Amino acid sequence: MWLEQLSISNCRIIAQCELDLTPRANVFTGGNASGKSSLVEALVLLSRGRSWRTARPQELIRHGEDTLTVTGRIAGGAIHSSYPIGIARTGRETRIRINHADVRQQSELSSHLPLTVIHPDSVELITGPPAQRRALLDWIAFYRSADFHPLWKNGQRILRQRNACLRDPTQRYALGYWNEQLAQVIPEIQQQRQQALQALQETLQELAFPHAVVGRVGLVLGSGFPQGVLLEQDNLLRFFQRHEEQELRAGTSLYGPHRVELQILLENLPAARVASRGELKLLGVALLLAQSQAISPSAAKRGIIAIDDLASELDTDNQALLFQVLAQTGQQQIITGTRLPESAFIQGDTRLFHVEQGQFRPV
Ligand SMILES: Nc1ncnc2c1ncn2[C@@H]1O[C@H](COP(=O)(O)OP(=O)(O)O)[C@@H](O)[C@H]1O
Ligand SMILES: [Mg+2]
Repeated sequence: MWLEQLSISNCRIIAQCELDLTPRANVFTGGNASGKSSLVEALVLLSRGRSWRTARPQELIRHGEDTLTVTGRIAGGAIHSSYPIGIARTGRETRIRINHADVRQQSELSSHLPLTVIHPDSVELITGPPAQRRALLDWIAFYRSADFHPLWKNGQRILRQRNACLRDPTQRYALGYWNEQLAQVIPEIQQQRQQALQALQETLQELAFPHAVVGRVGLVLGSGFPQGVLLEQDNLLRFFQRHEEQELRAGTSLYGPHRVELQILLENLPAARVASRGELKLLGVALLLAQSQAISPSAAKRGIIAIDDLASELDTDNQALLFQVLAQTGQQQIITGTRLPESAFIQGDTRLFHVEQGQFRPV
């Protein structure tokens, strides 16, 4: 699948734009503050319902306006040969539509637009807290298995309830019940994440990009428990009993799927500690490309890649490598930068746009 059309109104600096995209590379160039990241944020909003740049979605709404709208037309996707999807945000309110029908869940929109974004903060995938690394796997599981999202949501709900029991003495009587519930979902969530990891490892090796770094990478999935604890229901219940005092003192769940770490190693040492800045960037890009590939091997659900500020991510040699890899994957790409990539990298069917003050013009 791919996005054949994108319309944005009132997203940051962009007042209004309508873009016809190609299924291959779409390259946007423009000076600083011209609106390149605003475009990528609009796209991310459509896919994920939020932006990596802010925790407050209202910030995305263009100053002085009430409503931000992003709509896209999906081609070769799940429903018809081509159908619209859209999100509109007014203050804190969000309205989502898929193929002309109202939809309540953001996750439904996500399932129609499998977008992976690579941006200047992507190295935090490796150097930042574990949540982003779990998310790397969880998005793969989300797209590969219809069971994962309900399972994951249920896990979140159980943890919230269990934490309330650990915190509040008047609710403590229910702790045993929530222990059982948690012990039941843990092995299932872990299994889905294991499968996602396996898919990721396979695509990472297939991409062979960039070999000098990727060849030395190891990915190790933790369990969210001390080493050696078997993730089996009865065993987990006994573990919770043995650690009840400790968790009551903490007033929160100390073990479980929310504590799982995906270790990223370079030559068996944490990459965040041993890799150079350049290697970290390459590794971040390679992992995100592999994630996008792992989402689905089938064309109807093939992931779309957005790269914001390409040159700040990779030097010229590695940009050449990246374009080679992308040309082979056949994925749709939305790439921004202050300068055009060298002409040798530009694939024949690339569409070029110039960005200035939030306005877009085909070149
Ligand atoms: N909510 C908003 N409304 C209007 N303009 C905004 C808003 N948020 C940011 N901007 C402006 O948008 C511009 C940034 O655009 P951006 O897409 O980040 O540029 P680029 O990525 O091309 O450097 C800045 O001039 C910034 O002040
Ligand atoms: Mg930018």
